[in-house]
Amino acid sequence: MPETPTSPARADAAEQTPRRTFLDSILGFGFMSSAMAMLYPVTRYLVPPPGGEPATLSVVAARLANVPPNTGFVFNFGNRPALLVRTPEGELRAFNATCTHLDCTVQYRPETSQVWCACHDGLFDLGGGVVSGPPPRALERLTVQVRGESGQEEVVVSRD
Ligand code: FES
Repeated sequence: MPETPTSPARADAAEQTPRRTFLDSILGFGFMSSAMAMLYPVTRYLVPPPGGEPATLSVVAARLANVPPNTGFVFNFGNRPALLVRTPEGELRAFNATCTHLDCTVQYRPETSQVWCACHDGLFDLGGGVVSGPPPRALERLTVQVRGESGQEEVVVSRD
């Protein structure tokens, strides 16, 4: 005897189809969510977001009155360290303070009037050139300007 739409077997199949579709949807959604959760960090790693440091940057490093001759200090230049030096003769110089060897931060040594990298004893002159040690290149020079009224001058460091 052929089954009719009202037979019990046909009615069970009709009831199971929406349930099966619903379970398939839940499993599919779970699979897609898991795949997205795994792919998102990989994608962010491979394609980092745009941004970072702008090509041009200008920072007030200090008040001129606070930078006596034969001193130097590190300051934040964007998201990197920079070094402002006032030579024994009173000239202002600024450098990217990241050593060209293995990226340690350099510092000014007043006793020798040189820039020193403590990591591997790299030495730079006050033009940023390599004197000795393993650094392969000179330090990047930054532009220094003094702005403001007399007695209130600020030392502005920029990269063009
Ligand atoms: S990191 Fe500066 S000398 Fe090695």
